[in-house]
Amino acid sequence: MENLQNDLILRAARGQQVERVPVWMMRQAGRILAEYRAVREKAGSFIQLATTPELAAEVTIQPVDILGVDAAIIFSDILVVPEAMGLPYVMEEKVGPIFPTTIHSMADVEKLRVANPEEELKYVLDAIKIVKSELNGRVPLIGFAGAPFTLLCYMIEGKGSKTFSKAKKALYSEPELSHALLQKITDTTIAYLKAQIAAGANLVQIFDSWAGILSPEQYRIYSLPYIAQICDAITEVPVTVFAKGAFFAREDMGKLNCDVVGLDWNMDIAESRKLVGNSKTLQGNLDPCVLYSSFDEIKKHTRSMIQQFGTQKYIANLGHGVYPDTNPDKVKCFIDTVKEYQA
Ligand code: CP3
Repeated sequence: MENLQNDLILRAARGQQVERVPVWMMRQAGRILAEYRAVREKAGSFIQLATTPELAAEVTIQPVDILGVDAAIIFSDILVVPEAMGLPYVMEEKVGPIFPTTIHSMADVEKLRVANPEEELKYVLDAIKIVKSELNGRVPLIGFAGAPFTLLCYMIEGKGSKTFSKAKKALYSEPELSHALLQKITDTTIAYLKAQIAAGANLVQIFDSWAGILSPEQYRIYSLPYIAQICDAITEVPVTVFAKGAFFAREDMGKLNCDVVGLDWNMDIAESRKLVGNSKTLQGNLDPCVLYSSFDEIKKHTRSMIQQFGTQKYIANLGHGVYPDTNPDKVKCFIDTVKEYQA
């Protein structure tokens, strides 16, 4: 067994007693930190940074040193999975990710491979190993992957979108293709998460960032069953499911074989607890825009959030990733307020 000096997040995830609320932030390894931007500059591009294990490891650890968070999250992207399956992406400055080739037909799905993480994603596993060695047990490391449905969105649409109408069109008009693609992504994701765990990840989070564009019925057909397969397959470490916008699926989330359910800021805390049930740990859910307000307002909103969640079976976080133009001092204020909270 690994000797962790701070295992608050793992204990909270498993529903065990904690002496204080643990805290980390989605997108903590990123543009909010000048130290990140300097390494990113040196690397030349996002993809260069993400695929150079020493540099990816460096920016993974920065928020632990600078912000004092209770966990590191491996610096990578959810889009490395489609790439490993044979669909490469580019990261366009000020635009976001773009897939030059997209999925149109069953033949396209058949051409994709179920990736071998030890080969196509070796650079992520190498970064994890460096992080683990450099963290030296200070805090746990979070691994992650995109939910199959969210990855399908990018693989069919080819880029970010407000509606993902091309991707949704496929769900309604080509269910067979959609399910074949989702299953191939799921198989790759299970192998990938297991490889991340073998390399040292102590907890894994599934990001279903576009869950909120589906109807409850479509969500039950095209997203939940694949997330459920992943949850059932990952038995080694705690699993967090964060489905942005899926307020309608909170009761179903409570039935998944996962340990933690992530909430966004649109979800009422007490209502979420009722819907998810008492067996799971909840994570979230401060509106990232609170961090644009004054230090006093940040403290007030953070304390009120913890008061509503309670101090047990709870991991403090934002309700989505921190926005890149947030002042790091304000971020630090949020994190310190959680760490100083007395019930
Ligand atoms: O600190 C961390 O959370 C770890 C790193 C991380 C990144 N992406 C780095 C990144 C994680 C966990 C992700 C996940 C991710 N990527 C998601 C799911 C989480 C969410 O936000 O809903 C999604 C949908 C993506 C896809 C993606 N990657 C988009 C849409 C973009 C462009 C928008 C943006 O934020 O710029 C990215 C790029 C990206 N991924 C950056 C970072 C730090 C910015 C690129 C840069 O530094 O130039």
